[in-house]
Amino acid sequence: MGEQFLMKLCRAQLLRVWPFFVILSLLPLACADLDSDRQALLSFAADVPHGPRLDWSNATDICTSWVGITCNSDATRVLTVRLPASGLNGPIPPNTLGELDALRVLSLRSNRLYGNLPSDLLSLPSLRSLFLQHNNFTSNIPAFFPRRLHILDLSFNSFTGNIPATIQYLTSLTGFYLQNNSISGPIPNVTFSKLKHINMSYNNLNGSIPSSFKTFPYSSFTGNPFLCGPPLKSCPLHPPSRPSPKRKFPFWAIIAIAVGGVVAGLLLVALFVFCFLKNKSSDESRVRRGKSPTDGRGENPRAEFGSGVVESENNRLVFFEGCSFNFDLDDLLRASAEVLGKGSFGTAYKAVLELEESMTVVVKRMKEVAVGRNDFEQQMEIIGRVGQHPNVVPLRAYYYSKDEKLLVYDYFQGGSLMSLLHGNNGVGRMPLDWENRVKIVLGTARGIAHIHSIGGPRFSHGNIKASNVLINQDMDGCISDIGLPPLMNTPSSSHTAGYRAPEVVETRKHSHKSDVYSFGVLLLEMLTGKQPIQSPGREDMVVDLPRWVQSVVREEWSAEVFDVELMRFHDIEEEMVQFLQIGLACVVRVPDNRPTIHEVVRMIEQTRLYDFENGAPSD
Ligand SMILES: *[C@@H]1O[C@H](CO)[C@@H](O)[C@H](O)[C@H]1NC(C)=O
Ligand SMILES: *[C@@H]1O[C@H](CO)[C@@H](O)[C@H](O)[C@H]1NC(C)=O
Ligand SMILES: *[C@@H]1O[C@H](CO)[C@@H](O)[C@H](O)[C@H]1NC(C)=O
Ligand SMILES: *[C@@H]1O[C@H](CO)[C@@H](O)[C@H](O)[C@H]1NC(C)=O
Ligand SMILES: *[C@@H]1O[C@H](CO)[C@@H](O)[C@H](O)[C@H]1NC(C)=O
Ligand SMILES: *[C@@H]1O[C@H](CO)[C@@H](O)[C@H](O)[C@H]1NC(C)=O
Repeated sequence: MGEQFLMKLCRAQLLRVWPFFVILSLLPLACADLDSDRQALLSFAADVPHGPRLDWSNATDICTSWVGITCNSDATRVLTVRLPASGLNGPIPPNTLGELDALRVLSLRSNRLYGNLPSDLLSLPSLRSLFLQHNNFTSNIPAFFPRRLHILDLSFNSFTGNIPATIQYLTSLTGFYLQNNSISGPIPNVTFSKLKHINMSYNNLNGSIPSSFKTFPYSSFTGNPFLCGPPLKSCPLHPPSRPSPKRKFPFWAIIAIAVGGVVAGLLLVALFVFCFLKNKSSDESRVRRGKSPTDGRGENPRAEFGSGVVESENNRLVFFEGCSFNFDLDDLLRASAEVLGKGSFGTAYKAVLELEESMTVVVKRMKEVAVGRNDFEQQMEIIGRVGQHPNVVPLRAYYYSKDEKLLVYDYFQGGSLMSLLHGNNGVGRMPLDWENRVKIVLGTARGIAHIHSIGGPRFSHGNIKASNVLINQDMDGCISDIGLPPLMNTPSSSHTAGYRAPEVVETRKHSHKSDVYSFGVLLLEMLTGKQPIQSPGREDMVVDLPRWVQSVVREEWSAEVFDVELMRFHDIEEEMVQFLQIGLACVVRVPDNRPTIHEVVRMIEQTRLYDFENGAPSD
């Protein structure tokens, strides 16, 4: 199954890598979609015993004649499937309804469906309403539902387990129904801003009702003997100690989940490797988007679902609030990707997602993460909070599993200060002019000042360098990779040599002042055009830029210290000298004698006072 799954994803990806082929296949694609919807529905009807009312046939028109089906206005995709009380009996097979990827409404209420919900069904990208009430589904509540669900009705089934905290990501939810199941544990403390109806009554929930639900009626929560707090009776001050019943969770299941977690992780790693290898060979291309010719029917549906559930149990993409991205792990894995670079924390990829519109993000695979899930998630929260500034590259989402940690960032088309200063040395090179250099370092300084003041005295960047300064559309500098050193095994050694303050080399501890040192090196780099590190990863190739500059300046003041590419600009010498002084102040040996980053920002702004008072620096 693994291989086939990979092939399916990678072929879909390959297709996107070859634009010419996409164009060639556009026409067949448009017709193929309704056909594939038809095939998916026919497979469903063939696999699931049902009553006579459901009389779909290949001979009639799906959009006008099929019971329970409606299409979009131009009859190219199936939008709703409503099969209430149709005598459906059995599990929902994978690769059937889960293939209807334009589906908005699915109603299967009042049937005799049982077993698990297949993972493809739970990741349908457009689904808004899912009605499964009055069946006999027996699995745990899945951790993972289509992100844009408005209505989720799982009531009157035999769902078990806890309500996963991941339901908090269903931010569009207006109706949420779980009554009359066997759900246990506490209600997670989440807030749904759009929620109008909730019903959790007649389960085995316990603990106190989160305050965000206290405005809902009594009957939304009744029938849970160990649940308390408004709108139910208030909780006892000291909860009576009851003999807690044994968890009804067979041991084999725990083992299966543990093993499954590892497998899911390995799968992910394998997927990446496989996709990149596959990318290089160009033979496969005659495959429709997202579908494989062998659609895997006849495989053990449990096995497939198993890996899907485990993967989604705790391990899913976690988005930050206010993030307008709308994709899931599958989309990410399907994206075409190229390596942007290998850094001290892992490898960065540029991933192009083909969603409703194409979207490019940067995915970082972290290596050697030394902390557990809780610490990791906590640090992500901090990064999310600290990263809200126009000069800080925001973290959009992350993924954590035992074997794989991914971070998702915005993609910056402008590249990095590193590539602008040192990249493309051949013909056609556009030297970075003085105005833009100043603008970029000023933006960077402001970004660092922001993270120092919001993050507090213990939150430093720890890896300031030219390749971590990204250039946005306004040619402004933005600092990236904030907050990562605390996650690493040896935070200080991951800091790029050449930018490391002397005390970091000795004590291995970062501070605001060591960030200022690194920023000083960056300033000197901008002024001299020299890289403090010549060949990444090779300590012997490190130039001690501060010492070199100091020696040149001490021996005989000369313009030689400046980048030859700056020599063609006139009337900037005075400013360059001022910047040199700021840079040298940042790289003094004793941390206490360095300015704070806020002082640095002020100094830079003062050198530029004239320009700023006369409007923005010229572009
Ligand atoms: C339904 O018809 C299509 C062509 O319109 C054909 O490719 C497909 O095999 C048919 N499916 C079944 C189940 O007969
Ligand atoms: C639901 O399924 C369980 C076990 O699979 C079975 O014991 C129970 O009788 C079923 N309930 C209904 C209403 O079919
Ligand atoms: C829901 O559960 C309650 C308590 O067990 C029960 O009284 C009620 O009849 C159930 N409703 C249905 C439709 O099964
Ligand atoms: C639930 O979360 C809110 C805010 O997120 C917090 O104020 C409240 O104390 C939390 N309640 C519990 C019981 O943790
Ligand atoms: C809820 O029940 C579980 C066992 O079913 C128990 O471990 C847990 O402590 C209970 N929580 C509360 C708040 O009563
Ligand atoms: C919740 O469901 C129960 C059981 O079916 C029902 O009696 C109650 O009226 C419902 N409450 C709300 C607010 O929908």
